Amino acid sequence: MVFKTIIEPFRIHSVQAVRQISAAERAAALQRAGFNLFGLHGDEVLIDLLTDSGTGALSSAQWAAMMDGDESYAGSKSFYRFQDAVTDITGLKEVIPTHQGRAAEHILFTVAVTKGQVVPNNTHFDTTRANIEYVGAEARDLVIPEGRVPSSLHPFKGNMDIDRLEATIAEVGVRNIPLVMMTVTNNSGGGQPVSLENLRAVRAVCDRHGLPFFLDACRFAENAYFIKLREPGYADKTPREIAREMFSLVDGCTMSAKKDGMANIGGFLALNDARMAQAARNLLILTEGFPTYGGLAGYDMDVIAVGLKEVLEEDYLRYRLRSTAYLAEAAERAGVPTVRPPGGHAVYLDAKALLPKIPPQRYPAQALAVELYRSGGVRGVEIGTVMFGKPQPDGTDLPAPMELVRLAIPRRTYTQSHIDYVAEVIAEVAGRRETIRGYRMVEQAPWLRHFTARFEPL
Ligand code: F0G
Repeated sequence: MVFKTIIEPFRIHSVQAVRQISAAERAAALQRAGFNLFGLHGDEVLIDLLTDSGTGALSSAQWAAMMDGDESYAGSKSFYRFQDAVTDITGLKEVIPTHQGRAAEHILFTVAVTKGQVVPNNTHFDTTRANIEYVGAEARDLVIPEGRVPSSLHPFKGNMDIDRLEATIAEVGVRNIPLVMMTVTNNSGGGQPVSLENLRAVRAVCDRHGLPFFLDACRFAENAYFIKLREPGYADKTPREIAREMFSLVDGCTMSAKKDGMANIGGFLALNDARMAQAARNLLILTEGFPTYGGLAGYDMDVIAVGLKEVLEEDYLRYRLRSTAYLAEAAERAGVPTVRPPGGHAVYLDAKALLPKIPPQRYPAQALAVELYRSGGVRGVEIGTVMFGKPQPDGTDLPAPMELVRLAIPRRTYTQSHIDYVAEVIAEVAGRRETIRGYRMVEQAPWLRHFTARFEPL
């Protein structure tokens, strides 16, 4: 007998209390935070779906590995365990630990990209884009057209538009493209996967033009499992085999181990080019630390070494993708359109579709995120014009292509009843959609403004 319930493939070994604060306290917290959910204190949030980054539960095997962490400044045993785990999956020769993903990005773009160049990607994540713009280059998003339409069904909505990649190379010239990047899964585009067929096509374009190809590999394991489920010819391969095939196509990657590294902190830059690695290590020593710890404790590297094995276990990945789809189905039942099909790590509510009367310049996704918190203490994050809009000289914003609220699911952390509760909160908010108003931004930073902006309700 094969039972249909896909269970959490773990039992709970240690628990952390959460508590509901009153509606009045939530309203006061919103005022204090300037209606920016990044300004809330953790104990003001009941179910925290702000991010899946660094928020997951460690396994008992990871805690055990921490006890064996080697804190040697140079040549720590933990580093070599970490390096072995990374090379075993990626096959990449040079492994450079960093304290998290954006540090790897900053180092890569500093050594490889110069002012005026263009970096193509399916969709840059906000830190990736900011780090490219910080060195004076352009971050260009070339996802397939389906990837920009929340309701369009495509098995690999994270794929790169190969024609637009070719057109970009023709337009700006090969010498102005330092490298091509692909984000797996495509976080800013809804956590959507990229197919191996598309990765091979990008590789072929890069080969024709002699361009290096890098992955932003944060959620490589979820991407590998989508390939197993959806790409012809991969049903019988293990997630590890598929991941190896993905990495075999690239010259390097940046990684935030806070996602599919199953760790609370950490990341790495891995690549084959020894000269570029040397330049990266020189910068690493300046900004992160010695090359065998790169801003991490020895025990952090051991957590990642074990996490990289656990994340590729099939029982885990099957549960992981199913639990995300479960929440997406509940949101759809409550009448809230979502980015379809559901991505790997998060459900993306389509605020433009739910709140069509609020224009992008009045931040419909911010309004929806605020209401989910006000209603039930659920914290998500706006991925729309607050995060990706471009402020214009006249004070208005050039809108982002989509207005989404991302509900990211921390790994191995919440149970099905937590998610059922979130679904009830979504339904309550959807029921009073007509009364929801937009916001005005009253304070913003010159980059990554969504972290610190303040708002006033209209
Ligand atoms: N690339 C992608 C695709 C990401 O999702 C993130 C982080 C990073 C790079 C940067 O990694 O945080 O370790 O420096 N995403 C988090 C999120 C913050 O909530 O999606 P980092």
